[in-house]
Amino acid sequence: MSTMNTRTNSPLNSALTSSAQTRRQFIKTSSAAVGTALAAPYVLRGQAHDISAADVIKVGLIGCGGRGTGAASQAMKADKGTVLTAMADVFPDRLESSHQTLQKALPDKIKVEPDHRFIGLDAYQKLLDSGIDVVILTTPPGFRPIHLKAAVEANKHVFTEKPMAVDAPGLRSVMESVKVAKAKNLAMVAGFCWRYNPAERQIFERVHNGEIGDIRALYTCYNTGFLWSHPRKPGWTDLEYQLRNWLYYTWLSGDHITEQAIHSLDKMAWAMKDVPPVRCYAHGGRQVRTDPAFGNIFDHFSVVYEYPNDVKGYHFSRQQAGCFNDNSDQFFGTKGSAYIKAFGPLHITGENPWNLRSRTGLEDMYQVEHNEMYQSIRAGKPNNDGVRMARSTLLALMGRMAAYTGQMITWDEALDSQEKLMPDKLDWNAPMPVAPVALPGLTKFV
Ligand SMILES: NC(=O)c1ccc[n+]([C@@H]2O[C@H](COP(=O)([O-])OP(=O)(O)OC[C@H]3O[C@@H](n4cnc5c(N)ncnc54)[C@H](O)[C@@H]3O)[C@@H](O)[C@H]2O)c1
Repeated sequence: MSTMNTRTNSPLNSALTSSAQTRRQFIKTSSAAVGTALAAPYVLRGQAHDISAADVIKVGLIGCGGRGTGAASQAMKADKGTVLTAMADVFPDRLESSHQTLQKALPDKIKVEPDHRFIGLDAYQKLLDSGIDVVILTTPPGFRPIHLKAAVEANKHVFTEKPMAVDAPGLRSVMESVKVAKAKNLAMVAGFCWRYNPAERQIFERVHNGEIGDIRALYTCYNTGFLWSHPRKPGWTDLEYQLRNWLYYTWLSGDHITEQAIHSLDKMAWAMKDVPPVRCYAHGGRQVRTDPAFGNIFDHFSVVYEYPNDVKGYHFSRQQAGCFNDNSDQFFGTKGSAYIKAFGPLHITGENPWNLRSRTGLEDMYQVEHNEMYQSIRAGKPNNDGVRMARSTLLALMGRMAAYTGQMITWDEALDSQEKLMPDKLDWNAPMPVAPVALPGLTKFV
């Protein structure tokens, strides 16, 4: 465990500034730390080509599962000029069922010729080379840093699902991709969907305007039951089994605090105007979902984030069946409190009471994020969520690091972590031993 470090000029802290010094600092950190695919220098040739009001926008989808199919549909509805022209997945059955669903729902918009349906671990690169303008990244998050890097190198506007990385080397690469995307005037819109939700936007605007005063404490909770899993079929290799059950492997999902509960942490970050915490400590374990079929992730976390000025953020997340479930957030300020029930009512108590009892009639957040992205591309001012999407991802990673090791972890330690979860090489036929489940107090911070 390294010594506590509370400096505030780390690359992520400084990422909103544009000084050459911080840019150099970030580039140096990034290229030294990441593995082979990510460590290669960025190719900085080219820019996004201008998309005028009349142009067709060709969209490609990488990761044709549940969210990818939904995001592609939303991209098609977001702009009358969008057309889906390419799809990529590691598994043909996933691509075909996604294609059929989309074709049935949006026959005029789905123009994916057979030679533009790419299969395999290198399918993403073939799709990026297929003449598209915008790419949707919806694979398991372990691949996200590699796909983001390739997408900005290929001058594509990007919609990327959360989280952006499962480890710090991946996150440092993502920060670099964000900068390159900005330099090339490319969109980088993140699937932190609550930021695009009309109801949440109302309450967060009030919180940011001081209606609950200065925030003193925050509570966020994502307690849910068990999720889906796929029993092993004859002929599946280790890699196929893990990819089809990616939620349960840290190298693919980053654990459920990173993959699912990150939505709650993103709301904590939003309330704090994306100011990072100084440090955190955490509890966590694997108590009920212990069968080896569920890989090597925990089934519960609780994290205390310490912010400047003695502000504390308390986070709870659980994936255990048969328990009390909650997906809500509360922020406590010097003048009042704000309450958010996911998909439910929102209200403020105290000096400036307010409430929104029903969300009926408000636009769907998943649609809004695409609407705004295509509007920004057409306007020549592409939206870039990059800094905040990286910060929210680090919030989850540091919570996991603190829970796995049982140690206090600072923001800067988490960002500088050398733990690399993605294997350097993936082989369809090689055995893939599962890394041991973390044991707090014994697992070392790396
Ligand atoms: N914002 C939200 O509310 C929300 C909701 C659900 C999922 N998500 C996120 O979306 C992403 C996908 O989740 P999902 O539920 O759609 O999972 P999924 O398993 O349904 O889909 C993932 C797809 O990616 C494919 N894939 C895996 N590795 C690949 C690779 N290297 N190249 C190409 N394709 C690959 C899989 O075969 C699968 O078809 C995750 O990051 C998840 O966290 C976000």
